[in-house]
Amino acid sequence: MKNFINIKDISVRDLKKIIFDAKQRKKKRKNLNTLDVDKDNPLKGKLLVQMFEKSSTRTRLSFYLAIKQLGGGALTLRADELHFAKGESLPDTARILSTYGNAFMLRTDSDKKLNEFKKHMTIPIINGLSPSSHPTQVLSDVFTVEEIKKKSISKLQICWIGDANNNVITSLIEASVKFSFKLNIGCPKKYEPNKTLLNWANKNNSKIKIFYDSKKAVNGSDVIFTDKVISMNDKVNKAKKLKDFKNFQVNLKVMSCAKKDAIFLHCLPRGPEVSNDVFLGKQSRVWQQALNRIYVQKSILLYCFEKLR
Ligand code: CP
Ligand code: NVA
Repeated sequence: MKNFINIKDISVRDLKKIIFDAKQRKKKRKNLNTLDVDKDNPLKGKLLVQMFEKSSTRTRLSFYLAIKQLGGGALTLRADELHFAKGESLPDTARILSTYGNAFMLRTDSDKKLNEFKKHMTIPIINGLSPSSHPTQVLSDVFTVEEIKKKSISKLQICWIGDANNNVITSLIEASVKFSFKLNIGCPKKYEPNKTLLNWANKNNSKIKIFYDSKKAVNGSDVIFTDKVISMNDKVNKAKKLKDFKNFQVNLKVMSCAKKDAIFLHCLPRGPEVSNDVFLGKQSRVWQQALNRIYVQKSILLYCFEKLR
């Protein structure tokens, strides 16, 4: 069994295998209904338990559909419905979840908890977003970029505008090293990426450039990403943070500095970091991006069950 916790800890070979499998599986589903099972029925009889300590719309639905399409089933739990939230220990909870389920997906408010679950589970564990990373989202985004641009992401310039120290950009930085793509980051000075992460990236031949001006960061880019200024786990003065980002909105002016055929992506949900006309505009591919979560989640599950061809 394998866990899927951080992109940094997964080999390039395995990450590429996941993307390749997702492409193959998506192609084969052209004439199938949402709940039809893939022909090979690879996870027949398997139960995915998914537990949420934070809100989720896309991750919840896409994992539900992913395991269903692979022939298994999902049970979705809210942490506060379990004895766990009222004092049952984490090791006992992990043991029980491992007894009933075959894989566990956790969206948590604590990286420490994620690691503790990993220590005590005897079934694969998947990180469905933690304060420090969102690996299933970013791997799916690599898939979406390659699907739309029809070339390896290593040949493209990716740009991130916004908070450069949140879970999504952390996973994107890790992916930029693993998939060897150029990553321009445009952020206010005090919201730069984590130094330890940048040191790791630099030691591993990263192609990251940081700009304190969004137009300069976007210049010549093929893909523009942004994310909420205030993340779910942010314990900050919200009004102040929003003000700090007032020059970092992705709007039509900013998009006009990117390549002509640049696309806009956002993991959702959105806030004022993107203008409505960009979000709903012709360069936006956000709905396709959200849908692709299902396909990549399926191949992540197969990786965890060591069933990737
Ligand atoms: N992008 C994403 O993870 O969305 P949810 O928070 O709705 O799951
Ligand atoms: N950075 C965002 C991602 C939401 C999917 C958050 O953590 O709230």
